Amino acid sequence: MFDFDLVHDRRAWSATKWMKHADRDVIPLWVADMDFPAPPAIQEALAAHVAHGNYGYTSAPRDLPGVLVEDYHARYGWAVDPAWIVWLPGLVLGLNLAVKACCAEKERAIAFSPVYPPFLHAPGLQGRELVDVPLKPVNPAGTAHVIDFKRLDEVMREPDTAGRQPPAATRLLLLCHPHNPIGRLFSRDELERLAAFCEKHDLFVCSDEVHCDLILDGQTPHIPFARAMAERSPALLARTITLHGPGKTYNVAGLGIAWAIIPDAALRRRFRAAMQKLVPEPCCFAYTAARAAFTACEPWRQALLAQLRDNRDRVSAALERMGLAHSHPEVTFLTWIDARALAEQVGNPATWFERHGVGLSDGGDFGRPGYLRLNFAAPPSLLQEALARMERALAAHRATLA
Ligand SMILES: Cc1ncc(COP(=O)(O)O)c(C=O)c1O
Repeated sequence: MFDFDLVHDRRAWSATKWMKHADRDVIPLWVADMDFPAPPAIQEALAAHVAHGNYGYTSAPRDLPGVLVEDYHARYGWAVDPAWIVWLPGLVLGLNLAVKACCAEKERAIAFSPVYPPFLHAPGLQGRELVDVPLKPVNPAGTAHVIDFKRLDEVMREPDTAGRQPPAATRLLLLCHPHNPIGRLFSRDELERLAAFCEKHDLFVCSDEVHCDLILDGQTPHIPFARAMAERSPALLARTITLHGPGKTYNVAGLGIAWAIIPDAALRRRFRAAMQKLVPEPCCFAYTAARAAFTACEPWRQALLAQLRDNRDRVSAALERMGLAHSHPEVTFLTWIDARALAEQVGNPATWFERHGVGLSDGGDFGRPGYLRLNFAAPPSLLQEALARMERALAAHRATLA
């Protein structure tokens, strides 16, 4: 019913993913957008909007907050008030605004590496400090992880990077949930322990949940972290900022629309104050696409998830053959690969695979040199060709070592 096999030329529209290697024969499996066209219902809504010719200043459609509220309730059992929603033209912006709104200068924000790079950069960019509490690997390859609660407790007591004891105040936890790049949802137990930690240390939490509608296997339900906080104590809801949007699931990142859900009015005011005169509204087409995404795309999303499951399994099988340890993600379209042994032989493995015709994300950007992130949201024929190139390159390389 939906065509996930179509290989369409995204260079024609200057797609970032493809322009990075525009003049080379490299199949790009790096930045997290999908090589599938956006859902037909979004294309139709945008076509109608374009045909109408109204591209002036635009407010959010009046029914959009209600649509989202219903969706959060139905999918995640979370009661959201429409008044809590703050529209944004992007999520990374939301992370940076959360840092500004929750931490004074030099105060600290926690993140768990390996993680999507803006989590590691936002505190420093805003004149605050990052406290990295690395996730704890639970296998030797470092491709499966849990939260390191022991280390979390320790960093709250240790001197900070400037040697201050007690350390500068820690105000915020930047949570990536589901987690990019490790591809998992944190468990109920982890979320409960994390909520207790936030309560104990009076922390705000900014939970980026943009990947939550891409659960592949469905056995583990997504629990919005704000819900976990409220379940621990209703007052804790006031400490939360949740970031969400249609960019990843419906492949409309280029339209620039996201939102922050901020239950507490005072925190919302601080967040809006950080935005003032610096942040534009999402563009007129962005609202149109978001409305279509959450009202008319469920059959497409289900078909997408089936395709992503197939692709994930295809990638796992190929990486097995290549002898590269890897994650088996339960959510989203990113596989995390341990290429440290290869790195010892060839240098940066992302650069090496790029020379062999496949563009992967460099784990160093996520805080783990020697690892790779592979985006498998691509038509099967393209993915197959990329995997074959990787397999051939490794076989040839190993033959030279033998
Ligand atoms: C966890 C996470 N947050 C945010 C983004 C980017 O969001 P935006 O393009 O809306 O800034 C990504 C993109 O990969 C992501 O994985």
